[in-house]
Amino acid sequence: MQGDLITDFTRAVRQKTGLVIPEDDLARFQKIIVDRMRIRRIDIGEIYLQLLLGQSDASKAEWKALSLLLTTGESYFFRDAGQMSLLRHKILPELIRKREAEKRLRIWSAGCSTGEEPYTLAMLLTLILPDWRSWSIHLVGTDLNESALDKARAGLYGEWSFRKVDPELRKQFFTPLPDQVWRIDPQIHGLATFAHLNLIEDRYPNVTQNLYDFDLIICRNVFIYFDAPTIAGVVEKLTESLCRGGYFMSGHAEIHGRPSAELASRSHPESIIYQRVEKAPARTLHASAEYSVTPRAPAPRQTQSVAPARSARRSPPPPVAPTSPANRAVSSRVNLSEQWNQIIQLRHKGESEKAASLAVKLVASHPEHTPALMLLAWHNANQGRQSESESLCQQVIKTAPLSPEPHYLLAHIALEQGEEGLAKSLLNKALYLSPKHAPSCLCLADIMARQGDAHRARHMREIALESLAQMAPESRLEFYDDWRVEELAQHLRAQLADGAQ
Ligand SMILES: C[S@@+](CC[C@H](N)C(=O)[O-])C[C@H]1O[C@@H](n2cnc3c(N)ncnc32)[C@H](O)[C@@H]1O
Repeated sequence: MQGDLITDFTRAVRQKTGLVIPEDDLARFQKIIVDRMRIRRIDIGEIYLQLLLGQSDASKAEWKALSLLLTTGESYFFRDAGQMSLLRHKILPELIRKREAEKRLRIWSAGCSTGEEPYTLAMLLTLILPDWRSWSIHLVGTDLNESALDKARAGLYGEWSFRKVDPELRKQFFTPLPDQVWRIDPQIHGLATFAHLNLIEDRYPNVTQNLYDFDLIICRNVFIYFDAPTIAGVVEKLTESLCRGGYFMSGHAEIHGRPSAELASRSHPESIIYQRVEKAPARTLHASAEYSVTPRAPAPRQTQSVAPARSARRSPPPPVAPTSPANRAVSSRVNLSEQWNQIIQLRHKGESEKAASLAVKLVASHPEHTPALMLLAWHNANQGRQSESESLCQQVIKTAPLSPEPHYLLAHIALEQGEEGLAKSLLNKALYLSPKHAPSCLCLADIMARQGDAHRARHMREIALESLAQMAPESRLEFYDDWRVEELAQHLRAQLADGAQ
């Protein structure tokens, strides 16, 4: 098959399902296409492509068959002990308290595969809500894959679905049948419903399908196959399907930072979870979230020379007479660090516009102030002004050629534009300049995991963890959402222990 034609097929799949076919998977992809053509008795690739691009019932049926072969429905009960514990001990009890008066809960497992995830949620609910029978619980699982949904509806599971389940829990909720098959408890079975939904193509929130106003949406291990713009689009629609204050949980490292202006990240030791908030502040970069552009901490390396340490701020320097040149220089430095502190404080308060306009003034008088330039570069990127952001990055590369930061931000912009190859080489450049630059390691790890290179993804995360161990636990990671170093390290350790990609 010609390279152009394969590209047309990968594009069609990406548009329809969001799935990005990695370079090293192209041979398998081509084989799947050829097999489907054989089954449909089509000899010419272009004709099969036309079938896929059409709107007929035959096209729809073909997409169903093809997507079965392209998606992996790997799932198991109580997947990710940390996230399950967060749901069981914090999030679900909070939602139950909130809904106590109405006694109603609405939960959606998007990309539920064979049903282990929504049934796990049903089990958790019955464990923590003794009078669950008197509640109105809408717990729905949706997926693209019809045969996975059929399996979910059947409620019969083999050993592999229980690989991380406490045997006592299995006894409590399942009945053994011959041939190592287990049937789910009819009450748990009755709590969940299942429906077909393509997260990319279909419309939601959707009242007709009862997909709206959710208290909790879980969409885990689905985004790993999507590119950044697709993830952003799906997260936006999922966010709109939440009620105010509703929670959204994805898999670890699938999205980062603040993926939607209406989602605030809530960082717990077990996992990050997002919450729909009232106000929509400035848009943030959708790509890999690590790069939420509301950087919490001042850029330490470059600022050390200009920003006073905490203790220094508490006891201001003795007044100096502004007459001599030496005194004027000291006074100007103090003034500079005060300005920078003010900018940082505004940024911490979420007043990013004000912080940016002060940073513009600061840069006007100190054109080589790298932290201020980087702040402006992030701010522009978050506002969608990518070319301004890029030229600020180039300015930083000139003034601070050894800094990994501009390359790291440029990599984010490249990801936003779907240029994963370019993003990788920019991140490698950042790591060449600073071999343990944790945000670059983590961003690269996400890309590798998406491309199915679990081994190298793990290695990059281990390097990031080593680098975090050398930082003050209470400090915040520069341009990496509002992660505190120790929380991020804990999160990474859990992720590595869980063996997640
Ligand atoms: C690895 S499974 C994850 C199952 C479960 N969420 C978990 O974490 O255990 C990924 C699922 O996402 C589904 N999926 C992939 N692309 C989808 C799309 N565009 N719309 C809906 N589901 C999709 C696949 O069919 C598959 O069942």
